[in-house]
Amino acid sequence: MPEPKTLFEKACRGIRESRPPVWIMRQAGRYLPEYRKLRERVDFLTATKTPEIAARITLQPLERFPLDAAILFSDIMTPLEGMGVGLDFAPGPVLDRPIRSAADVDTLRALVPEESAGFVLETLRMVRAELRSDAALIGFAGAPFTLFCYLVEGGGSKDFATARAFLHAEPEAATRLLRLLGTSMAAYLVAQARAGADALMLFDSWAGLVGPQSFGRYVLPILKDTVAAIRAEVDRPLIYFANAGATLLSQVRELDADVVGIDWTLPLSRAVQDLGADVVVQGNLDPAALFASRSELAAAADDVLREGAGAAAHVFNLGHGIHRTTDPDQVAFLVDHVHEQSLRKAG
Ligand code: CP3
Repeated sequence: MPEPKTLFEKACRGIRESRPPVWIMRQAGRYLPEYRKLRERVDFLTATKTPEIAARITLQPLERFPLDAAILFSDIMTPLEGMGVGLDFAPGPVLDRPIRSAADVDTLRALVPEESAGFVLETLRMVRAELRSDAALIGFAGAPFTLFCYLVEGGGSKDFATARAFLHAEPEAATRLLRLLGTSMAAYLVAQARAGADALMLFDSWAGLVGPQSFGRYVLPILKDTVAAIRAEVDRPLIYFANAGATLLSQVRELDADVVGIDWTLPLSRAVQDLGADVVVQGNLDPAALFASRSELAAAADDVLREGAGAAAHVFNLGHGIHRTTDPDQVAFLVDHVHEQSLRKAG
């Protein structure tokens, strides 16, 4: 195991220091005027595929706030082009064709990250060269089921009814698709680690839609294989985030992730009950709390800090992505408050 160097990596390994590390889901993006300015000249896909621009955007939030980690600027959908589907953003992902049969699954190929996602690896190398040495770099991928949802549906959806129906109507073809996504995302994350990512995160944004029984039957076995395939190749902290996953946590425990991300609907102390006290938790301030008065925002952040105190360690974050109309000054206040509050407690 490489020695954990940064506060963030230490927390991921269960080592508590004077304060929890802080980063913000979707910290690079449209709530930042400097991001919007850059995006006036270049569309989202081009930005993600041009390492100089993607690296610039990755670093933007760290130039503004004293964050403990940078997260690669890209999207969970980006590597799917390398598997044979056409992709656009409007602003959510739109696919040129849905995958809805065994024959459709056969048209996809396994991702070879070095061949079709080389721009992501180059972005990571560029960021690593510029990033403060006490900040960690997080690489990420979509979890197999969440990518499955977008592929079958052909784009975003409220409930991904078509994708969930496909899982039950054609379990063999669905499992083949999930497996292909699992092995491809494992290879993608291994390549990101080798290009400089200090930690690896799987975003399972739609896992909460599937229900505990189907999660255990169709989703968890593939997640376990994905984690095992990554661990066989590289030693980096793995973060698993299942949005709306409160009912899945006793199963998520079996995944053996180093860190489990929790959305804001579940107090962290209750997550620890299901996950066990040896698991590190990440989260989980309600992104809407950034619209509160400063005293209310501070109180909400203190609550999250108190709740996280019972876990092996705590990575402070929001419970889901920051809303695009958030005032960046509120983020500055929040990050400073977490720093000060934790230091006061230690002193
Ligand atoms: O966190 C970061 O700062 C890194 C960048 C990042 C993006 N997408 C950039 C992005 C990350 C980690 C993601 C992950 C992602 N993408 C997820 C998982 C996390 C989650 O929110 O649950 C999902 C489900 C997607 C799919 C996606 N991409 C959606 C639904 C949308 C549209 C909605 C939205 O927030 O705009 C996107 C587009 C997207 N991805 C944007 C950004 C900055 C907006 C594009 C723009 O600038 O116009």
